[in-house]
Amino acid sequence: MPDTKLAIVILAAGQGTRMKSSTPKLLHPIAGVPLVGHVLATARALDAAHVVAVVRHERDRLVEVITAELPDSIIVDQDDVPGTGRAVEQAVAALPADFDGDVLVVNGDVPLLDAETLASLVTRHRDSGTAATLLSAILDDATGYGRIIRGNSGGLDYIVEQKDASEAELAVQEINAGVYLFTLGTLRAQLANLTTDNAQGEKYLTDVVGLLRSAGGGVDAIPVAEPWLVEGVNDRAQLSVQASRLNALIVRGWQLAGVTVQDPASTWIDLTATLAPDVTLKPGTQILGATVIETGAVIGPDTTLVDCEVGEGAEVKRTDATLAVIGAGASVGPFSYLRPGTLLGADGKIGAFVETKNAKIGTGSKVPHLSYVGDAEIGEGSNIGAGSIFANYDGVKKHSSVVGSHVRTGSHGVFVAPVRIGDGAYTGAGTVVRKDVPAGSLAISVAPQRNMDGWTQSHRPGTAAAQAAEAAQTSHEDN
Ligand code: UD1
Ligand code: CA
Repeated sequence: MPDTKLAIVILAAGQGTRMKSSTPKLLHPIAGVPLVGHVLATARALDAAHVVAVVRHERDRLVEVITAELPDSIIVDQDDVPGTGRAVEQAVAALPADFDGDVLVVNGDVPLLDAETLASLVTRHRDSGTAATLLSAILDDATGYGRIIRGNSGGLDYIVEQKDASEAELAVQEINAGVYLFTLGTLRAQLANLTTDNAQGEKYLTDVVGLLRSAGGGVDAIPVAEPWLVEGVNDRAQLSVQASRLNALIVRGWQLAGVTVQDPASTWIDLTATLAPDVTLKPGTQILGATVIETGAVIGPDTTLVDCEVGEGAEVKRTDATLAVIGAGASVGPFSYLRPGTLLGADGKIGAFVETKNAKIGTGSKVPHLSYVGDAEIGEGSNIGAGSIFANYDGVKKHSSVVGSHVRTGSHGVFVAPVRIGDGAYTGAGTVVRKDVPAGSLAISVAPQRNMDGWTQSHRPGTAAAQAAEAAQTSHEDN
């Protein structure tokens, strides 16, 4: 049931100058989701009647992300007047005329804020009947934040921004979290009174609080139990701090769901990944994107999986894989590079120093050593010899090759695409396969070996090699 009395305003128009980035701040990801995506997901969980997102800087890129997550949200373009107060003023003007309830304002750069904290803020506000209720936090280092200034009675008087604060105000450790609940009528009335008369020449939303108090309205600031819930991301140092915190929560969640994570500090799991119970993650492992890992699989150490599927009981060590499917019981690594379109069948193997791309490798088939398999399909139970190359590129176009089932190819083979090797065929070591090989045939392309006796002594006289050859021949003659 949507909360018909609740509208959520997400502030996402700022430039995020402190990130020093060509990517808008709110599109920097943590746990695989852009900052604004975390706030949108929280907003969605509250099931409000309306969600308004205020954009300006790089608005098209933000709107794309916002409408993908919340298609019904109202997009508002902030005009030339800067500041969070102006952003909310325009958001409120965009609410449907028949809406009359509470407005929850959330900065777009507080990714760890959870729906539970917001829901309790809504309840607190409605129970108290004040004009506004906001979240605060007590921080050891409050630098950069707006400070909550309380009067002698302990009640909130006003908020002062870092750049406008006096020495005494700067010493205050209680900060404004940037999360506010306003009653629409009083909010609208005070937004009209905001000025840009401050150090940054902006309309500060925070000034609404002081204005409400001067007008005799009650305003509560509730400190959150865990300050990190409301810590904002303004620069890349804070980005990595919040990313680590969120990762720790995600890792712990999977541990409690039955996943063994040997070293949480070096294991990164995106919010979008899924792991089954009894999966083991070894140190240095990144499980990213829409990766799904089935039970009993052992991943790592030092493995990155992006948008991969790993089947039951598979083993993947020291591997980099993107958009690859690894079958149940299969083995990958160490030092394997699986590029998009790799499909390894059940019980198959992609071994050391093997690169694959757009390669379907059937059940039980193996590419154990030092090979490149690109644009190829390999049947079941086949073995590709060490050091094989599927030469898929003629310099202009890519071509595909097909290898049948129960094929044995010799070491150091080159398969010049497009070429087909039939079921049960063999190829000799060092074969350059340029023509199709029928089922059951042995293909060899190398010239017969010729030994030129005594060559070293006659062509490289006096060298260590010639002396060694001489010694070997003498001892041979002695026998
Ligand atoms: C703001 C608060 C500060 C609080 C802190 C909490 C104000 C004036 N200050 O400061 O009291 O401690 O958040 O994290 O509100 N934005 C717009 N339009 C604008 C400017 C900003 O939509 O014109 C958006 C930004 O995209 C961002 C959010 O508002 O998501 C906050 O902006 P930011 O510049 O980060 O404010 P702070 O300086 O952190
Ligand atoms: Ca901020």
